[in-house]
Amino acid sequence: MSTSRRVLGPADLAAGSLKGYRVGKRNVVVTNVDGSLRAMDDWCNHAGCLLSGGHLDGRLLVCPCHEVGFDVDTGKNATSPGVCDDQPVYPIEIVDGQIVVLGFDPPGVDG
Ligand code: FES
Repeated sequence: MSTSRRVLGPADLAAGSLKGYRVGKRNVVVTNVDGSLRAMDDWCNHAGCLLSGGHLDGRLLVCPCHEVGFDVDTGKNATSPGVCDDQPVYPIEIVDGQIVVLGFDPPGVDG
């Protein structure tokens, strides 16, 4: 099985910031915590709010709707076990100054 790659945009997020991207039919949020970029599925698995509307609290991305905090490295629900699952996270690479997100298998499902 191959792994699809999608260019999100310039890797110019400031430390402490986050940004949501539309990737085909899906949404990805990229965070910059201490200079490290991480990518997570943007649709919160609790009730579908966009995590890109939330905020960072240390290494947690906090959902704007019910304030569940997800670890930016692992996607683990670190604040409210049992309320919802962990969030999918995706590997990214910086290629020629662009954020490239990996892991959208199977290719083609993203429109
Ligand atoms: S929708 Fe994200 S915590 Fe409820």
